Amino acid sequence: MSGDRTSPDAGLDAVRGLLAFYLDAGVDALLVETPQDRLRPDDLAAHSPAPQAVTTAVAAPPTSTPRHSAPARAAAPAAREPVGAAPATPDDAVMAARTAARSAATLEELAAILAGFEGCPLKATATRLCFADGRPGAPVMFVGEAPGRDEDLEGLPFVGRSGKLLDRMMAAIGLARSDTYIANVVPWRPPGNRTPTPLETQICLPFIQRQIELADPDVLVCLGAPAAQTLIGTREGIMKTRGRWFTYHTGRREIRAIATLHPAYLLRQPLAKRLAWRDFLAIKAALAAARPGAPT
Ligand code: URA
Repeated sequence: MSGDRTSPDAGLDAVRGLLAFYLDAGVDALLVETPQDRLRPDDLAAHSPAPQAVTTAVAAPPTSTPRHSAPARAAAPAAREPVGAAPATPDDAVMAARTAARSAATLEELAAILAGFEGCPLKATATRLCFADGRPGAPVMFVGEAPGRDEDLEGLPFVGRSGKLLDRMMAAIGLARSDTYIANVVPWRPPGNRTPTPLETQICLPFIQRQIELADPDVLVCLGAPAAQTLIGTREGIMKTRGRWFTYHTGRREIRAIATLHPAYLLRQPLAKRLAWRDFLAIKAALAAARPGAPT
C-alpha cells in the first residue's frame, strides 16, 4: 500500500482543490451531467446555441419571479408562452427581440414579454430574470451590465455586494432605492459571471432601450464601461467617459446621460471612490435642475 496517493483524504483533497480552482475561474454552475469537449471542431458546430422562439401569450414561470418584492419594486413578470418558430440565425434573434420589445406598451408588458422570450441563450442558464428594482417613473435610472450570482438568486438587480455599495452611494446624495429605477443591459446572469458576448448584448439591447423609454427617467446613469458603451455608444474607456454628460434619445425625448465607475470596480479600487463621488454630485445637481421643486 502506498501512502497518501491512494488515501481517501488525498482523493477528497484533490476534488476540493479542483472545485476551488473552478470557483476561482468563475465556474459555479453545472450545465450538463457529462463533460463536453467544446474545442473539438465537430462539437463546436453541434453546441453553438441556436436562438429560440419569441413568445406572445401569458403564463407565470417560477424561474422569473423574485423571491420577495417590496411595494416600490417592479412587479414580478408573468411570462408568455412560446409561440412561432425559433429564430434561425443570430440576426433573426436580434430582429425578434426588436419586434418583441416594441410590442410592449408598459413596463409590466415588457417584463412579461422578456420573461417568455427564448431568443437569448442566457435565459437557459440563469435562475431568474432580473428585470428591475426601484420605482418606475423615478427621475433617475441606473443601468449596470448584467446580474451576478446574488441577483440571479433574488431576481433583482444590484442586491449583492456591489448593490449594497450602490445603495450607500445613492444615499450619500439623498436617494433611496425607491427614488430610483435600476436595471441591467442584460437581464439574465451569464454563467460564472462571464462577460456577456456581443451577440447576447445585441439581443438584449432592444429590451433595455424600451425599458428606458417606458421608465422615462430625466437622468440615465450607466454603471461601468459595458453599460456606457452599449447605451451611450462611446468606444472610449470608462476613465475617459465617466463624469461627462451625453444626450440620450429615449425614442420619446432627449434626456441627460452620464457614465460612472461600476460599484464592483470601486470595491476593488476604493481610492477611485473619490471620482465616483464627483459623478454622484453631478447627478444630484442634474436631478435638482430637472425637477426644481423636488426635495434634494
Ligand atoms: N453588476 C451588475 O452590473 N449588475 C448587477 O445587477 C449586479 C452586479
